[in-house]
Amino acid sequence: MKITLSVIKADVGSIGGHAVPGKKLVQAIEDHIKNEGSRLLSDFKIFHTGDDTAILMAHTKGKDNSDIHKLAWDAFVAGTKIAKEQGLYGAGQDLLKDAFSGNVRGMGPASCEMEFEERPAEPFILFACDKTDPGAFNYPLFRGFADPFHNAGILLSGDIARGFEFTVMDVNYTQGDRIITLNVPEDYYDLAVLLRDPEHYVIESVSSRASGSQAVAVSTSRLHNIAGKYTGKDDPVALVRSQKDFPSTGEILSPYATAHYVAGGDRGSHNVALMPVKLGEIISYFDGPAIITAAGLCVHNGKFTEPVDLFEQPFWDTIREKASQKTFAIREQGFFGVAMASMEELEYTGVVERIKELDKKFIIRSK
Ligand code: 13P
Ligand code: 13P
Ligand code: MG
Ligand code: MG
Repeated sequence: MKITLSVIKADVGSIGGHAVPGKKLVQAIEDHIKNEGSRLLSDFKIFHTGDDTAILMAHTKGKDNSDIHKLAWDAFVAGTKIAKEQGLYGAGQDLLKDAFSGNVRGMGPASCEMEFEERPAEPFILFACDKTDPGAFNYPLFRGFADPFHNAGILLSGDIARGFEFTVMDVNYTQGDRIITLNVPEDYYDLAVLLRDPEHYVIESVSSRASGSQAVAVSTSRLHNIAGKYTGKDDPVALVRSQKDFPSTGEILSPYATAHYVAGGDRGSHNVALMPVKLGEIISYFDGPAIITAAGLCVHNGKFTEPVDLFEQPFWDTIREKASQKTFAIREQGFFGVAMASMEELEYTGVVERIKELDKKFIIRSK
């Protein structure tokens, strides 16, 4: 059976600052999908990560289907109504347009979708991040798919050794989708050169070269490029299919043990360590740290199993501690040097405007 998985995620209001969506808000989103989606969807699940709510949908309508996208958009409009009623912070934050037109891409919400022939057993992971951007997935996807230190299947299993095809997007280009496709192992170093700059070049998808099947879809929207001004970090989602042709679930999770540094945290303008957390976790210290959740599911005939919380397992307590230590280590130097995001990543205009004013006061000293 050919199915499509669609994840559409937005922040339409949160309690206590940019911390967590309210229960009533999440319920309003769920009720909308339940009531209006029965004709369109074979199944759905709702998750939240920090202040963002993700709608996971299974259907047979293919990618970029306007009915599916409108269903999610209207659910977020229903959530916004509750956010306004309750005085939540940032009500409707990620709904950048007044009216829906065709597709949520470019309208604020993050989305990623995959259409594929269901395998007899179809395990997959829904990752969702808060307080960071889509480039946060560059490091763990590169290592989880292309590096035998994590993907031991490259050495131990036949088909995986044929490698993977990575599609990478230049997210600074705003006129359209500027992409490049590179194959590992032969293009490994070229891929590394691009992925080392996660604010510019972002993995959009990964496919198996043995079967041609797509393994990964990442939301590659850039809210601040779309809106031309600060509207919050892009807070990405990714779908990753696992096992058989693809790395195992554990291999895909393995690189998150680095708690790598990403752009995010307070005002979307600092570099902090990415902390793997439990589903539904809130945001706290320094509007962060940047967090990631991982829901493991199987889908069969378009129906989901119950999700398992892959970062709930005790191993990740140590990594949470490590992410706290790494975040604190860089926070100790405040806004100096690499602690604050690069000039082009600053999501508030204050620094740039102040420098413009100060620039007028600079003088060239006469000899
Ligand atoms: P199977 O042999 O059951 O596919 O599992 C492989 C695996 O997950 C190794 O980590
Ligand atoms: P969100 O993008 O998650 O709303 O966070 C905004 C922010 O800058 C918090 O400091
Ligand atoms: Mg917010
Ligand atoms: Mg958010």
